[in-house]
Amino acid sequence: MGRSASGRWDLGLDDMNFPTTVKIVEVGPRDGLQNESMVVSTEDKVRFINMLTATGLSVVEVTSFVSPKWVPQLADAAEVFRQIDLREGVRYPVLTPNSRGLERALESGAKEVAFFTAASETFNKKNLNMSVRESLAEIREMAATGKSKGLWMRGYVSTAFYCPYQGRVAPDKIRPIVEELLDFGIDEISIGDTIGWATPGEVTELTEALRDTLPLEKWAYHFHDTRGTALANVLMAMSHGIHIFDSSAGGLGGCPFAPGAAGNLATEDFVYMLNGMGIATGVDMDKLVDASRFIGSKLGRALLGKYLGSHRQ
Ligand code: HMG
Ligand code: MG
Repeated sequence: MGRSASGRWDLGLDDMNFPTTVKIVEVGPRDGLQNESMVVSTEDKVRFINMLTATGLSVVEVTSFVSPKWVPQLADAAEVFRQIDLREGVRYPVLTPNSRGLERALESGAKEVAFFTAASETFNKKNLNMSVRESLAEIREMAATGKSKGLWMRGYVSTAFYCPYQGRVAPDKIRPIVEELLDFGIDEISIGDTIGWATPGEVTELTEALRDTLPLEKWAYHFHDTRGTALANVLMAMSHGIHIFDSSAGGLGGCPFAPGAAGNLATEDFVYMLNGMGIATGVDMDKLVDASRFIGSKLGRALLGKYLGSHRQ
């Protein structure tokens, strides 16, 4: 037992197919702030995003061009996007639910976009006011525009494990949606445990169901941490070679249309675990803690991330 020269534990980790590098997609400014009852000022959102990109994170999801009636917290999406510092080599995806959203994103100068649909009909209707089929038709149209403009495109499949309205979602529901998204030319697909109920066995089951469809370089998982299983789920997914994961600073997050969903996996907790395992992320932990503390102070509450809560000044 002990560590190898590379810093990796030699207790079987090298035999477990774990990646040597993980790409973190930071979703705090979007998944996090969409779910806060308090509206954070544009200036503070911009500062938070700039602090996050200064940590070395290579992808930061900035905001959503959704209906301001549905998500008033992100009504300033265009101003936020225009005001942030765009760093070389960092991707800044924005969510767009429909062609109107994509138009607004393009007008603001976005070069990376994220579309979203779900494996559960009821959730999709509550979240997008569309059936799954209707949302895929919308995505097909947006993806065609995106391709013609050279955008980098992400696609989310929400409620891939559990739906807050319909319960357990069978793994074979996900594959046809993923196939369609790949067919539309989507560059990366994030499989979402929207309400944070998944457990590692279910992650293996779904991963096996998608293995022949979704190439590893396009495959992300998005775990919410409602019941404390997100890190265990990530570990299981990494043992299958998956190396792109979404997480949020301080464990912010949730979806206003998914009752009971708590925050995403906290980025600090994730980076802490990966550092300990000798898996590279390129993220500066101290700067990350500063960014989370900053947004926590603006929200007027302690964030839920475990590392953050136990970290001394
Ligand atoms: P709708 O009410 O059916 O919209 O909402 P509509 O098409 O009937 O249009 C109604 C009005 O809204 C029109 O204006 C449109 O122009 C306007 P009016 O003629 O009345 O003046 N409108 C818009 N305005 C600005 N931007 C737009 C837009 N679209 C229409 N994009 C809609 C349909 C899709 C707009 C709505 O349902 C919506 O915005 N939903 C987004 C909900 C959301 O943001 N959910 C959270 C993100 S998803 C998530 O968190 C899950 C994820 O994290 C992964 C996981 O955890 O699994 C990604
Ligand atoms: Mg989410």
